[in-house]
Order: sequence, then structure tokens, then C-alpha cells
Amino acid sequence: MRELRPGDLTARARYELLTSLVVPRPIGWIGSWGPDGTANLAPFSYFAALSSSPLQVGVSVGHRRDSDGGWVPKDTLRNVREQGAFAVHVVTEPFLEAMNATSAELPATESEFAGAGLEVVPARVIDAPTVAGAPVVLECRVRQEVPLGEAPNTLVIGEVVHLRVSEELGFAPGTHRVDPEALRPVARLGGADYALLGRVRTLPRP
Ligand SMILES: Cc1cc2nc3c(=O)[nH]c(=O)nc-3n(C[C@H](O)[C@H](O)[C@H](O)COP(=O)(O)O)c2cc1C
Repeated sequence: MRELRPGDLTARARYELLTSLVVPRPIGWIGSWGPDGTANLAPFSYFAALSSSPLQVGVSVGHRRDSDGGWVPKDTLRNVREQGAFAVHVVTEPFLEAMNATSAELPATESEFAGAGLEVVPARVIDAPTVAGAPVVLECRVRQEVPLGEAPNTLVIGEVVHLRVSEELGFAPGTHRVDPEALRPVARLGGADYALLGRVRTLPRP
């Protein structure tokens, strides 16, 4: 066994360990309006389902270094603070390449939608841009912001106030459970690796 103490490791090594060991991670692909109305879109795999009543999700958004070496929030964090809202898309196989393209660090005035050849559809009940044709959109209002100590990350907790789910995802009869084979979700592994849905095993609870 390799015994590792986080305090002895570089920040890079800690990142490599966490992101290759806590896998596969769902990806929240987040749309938000910029201050000048630019439609912003970026993927986040520090993303989780937090509660279902009410429906809440959490995303840990990093900060980036500015030219003076200080930390500034990524555009997504700045936008969700200003708008109090964001749209989460579940990343599915047909959108894998487009999702990756939207992780490019563009100036705040340039839209990742255009960069990735995606069309903007305004969210139904919140102020956020969404991806045309995306099979799942969770429209969220910011409930809480949680600083993560000295980490250059901020956890944003959003309440899902509206959902859009494609009928093509095949709800199980009499339920709201979506067929994973129809959804074809994509998850993040370490580095540039992604996991597609493998064999599904069904186990009744004891
Ligand atoms: C699959 C994937 C997952 C990512 N997860 C995160 C994350 O959890 N937190 C984060 O701060 N950045 C993450 N990134 C990097 C951001 O997407 C990237 O910094 C993006 O440019 C941020 O955009 P923004 O400045 O418009 O908010 C991820 C990138 C990819 C490709």
C-alpha cells in the first residue's frame, strides 16, 4: 500500500488523487447569464445530488488566478451570485464533445454556447440560458453559498425549482424513474478520461 499524507503532497498530486479515486463523477453542465447578457456554459464534476425534498444539488466552483496572482471567481460563480440562479444539464453521450469544448477558458464576454456550436434556449422559470436539445435541465435558484475554508473553491447549493425531462428518456411505467440506457449519461474520471454507461445490474434492497 502507498501511504500518503495530504499535507506532504503538492496541490497537483492532491487533485490527481481525488479526481482519479472518487469516480465516476456526475457532471453538472451549468448555464448562467453573464453581467452583459453573455450566455455562459461550463462543466463541473465537483457536483452532487444533495436532497430530494426539497430537490437540492451542489456544485463546487473553483477560483482562478488573475494577472496579479490573486484568486478571482470563475465566471459561473460570479454569474450565479449575481443572478441567484443557474441551469444544470445532465451530460449525455451525444453532448460529450460539446461539453468538453465548453470548458475552454473564454473571456467573460464570449459565449461558450457559440464556441461549441450550441443554441441557447432561455430557462422556463429562472434567469439562465439552457442548451437546445439537452434531454435534462434542472432549473435552480441559489439557496446557499458555502466557503470551503482556505480552498479556492466555493460550494453553491441550488434548489431545483423546475425540471425539463425529455419524454424520449422512457419513464418506467407509473413512475418518474428514467431509463439509464435511454439517458446514456457521461461521467468524469481522472484527467481527460470519461466513463460511459456500462452494464447495469439490478439488486433488490435487502
Ligand atoms: C468534465 C469537466 C469537469 C470540470 N469540473 C470542474 C469543477 O468541478 N470545478 C471547477 O472549478 N472547474 C471544473 N472544470 C473546469 C471548468 O469547466 C473551467 O474552468 C471553465 O472554464 C469554467 O468556466 P467559467 O469561467 O465560464 O465558469 C471542469 C472541466 C471539465 C472538462
